[in-house]
Amino acid sequence: MSLSIAMDGPVGAGKSSIADAVAKRLGILHLDTGAMYRAVGVMALREKIAEDEQEVSRKVQDWKVDVRYVTGDDGEGRQHTFICGEDVTAYLREEATGKAASKVATYPAVRRAMVETQQRLAAEQDMLLDGRDIGTRVLPSATVKIYLTASDEVRARRRLLQLQEQNPGENVCFETVLEDLRKRDEPDMNRETDPLRQAEDAILVDSSFLTFDETVETILRHVSEKRAQA
Ligand code: DC
Repeated sequence: MSLSIAMDGPVGAGKSSIADAVAKRLGILHLDTGAMYRAVGVMALREKIAEDEQEVSRKVQDWKVDVRYVTGDDGEGRQHTFICGEDVTAYLREEATGKAASKVATYPAVRRAMVETQQRLAAEQDMLLDGRDIGTRVLPSATVKIYLTASDEVRARRRLLQLQEQNPGENVCFETVLEDLRKRDEPDMNRETDPLRQAEDAILVDSSFLTFDETVETILRHVSEKRAQA
C-alpha cells in the first residue's frame, strides 16, 4: 500500500528538519512544499510583481515549478527546487524571498498551481510532504496527518539560538524574534484560501517539551500505528 504523510504547522516548529529525519527513517522522499512557494517568490521578485496578484496569477501558469533530488557528498539526497528549468535553491532562504513567498502564497491561482504539482508528485511515489495545507487540501486522504507545533515562546527561543549560532557575537533580542515569528505566521493563518489549520483527523504533536529525537520518535510511532490500522 502506498504511503503518504502530511505534516503541517506554523513557522519555526522544526517541520523541515523533523520531516527530513522522519522521511529518512522511513526510506521515503520528503517534499518541502514551502520551497515551491519560495521559488515563485524568487521569480515574482525578479519581475518586480510580487505585490501584483493579477500579474503573478497570469504568469504562474507558465512558471513550471519542479523538484529533483540531488545526492550530496555525504550521500544524502537533497531537494533542489526549479522554476522555469532554473535551479533556484540557493536563493530560497533569502529574507526577501521569504517575504515574497508569504505574499504570493495568498494568491489562489498560485496555490492551485502548486497544489496540482504537489498532488502529482505525491501520486508518483511514497512521500512525506510538509507545509501549511497538506492535510487540509493537498492530501486529504493521506495515510497519516501530523500537525507539528510548539508554543510561540519555545519556537522563538529555538530561532534565537539558531541566529546566535549563525551570527556569533551579534546581539539579537528575544522579543524581536518572537514578534517576527508571529508576524510571519499571520498571513499563513489568516489568508482566505487554505489557511494554516489542523486537519480534523490530524494528530497534534506539540514539541515544546520534546527534544528533536523524541519528536521524530513520536511521529514514527504514530505512523506505524496508523499503518497497522490501515
Ligand atoms: O515553510 P516556508 O517558510 O518555507 O514557506 C514559505 C511560505 O509559503 C510561507 O508563507 C508559508 C507558505 N506555504 C504555504 O502557504 N503552503 C504550503 N504548503 C507551504 C508553504
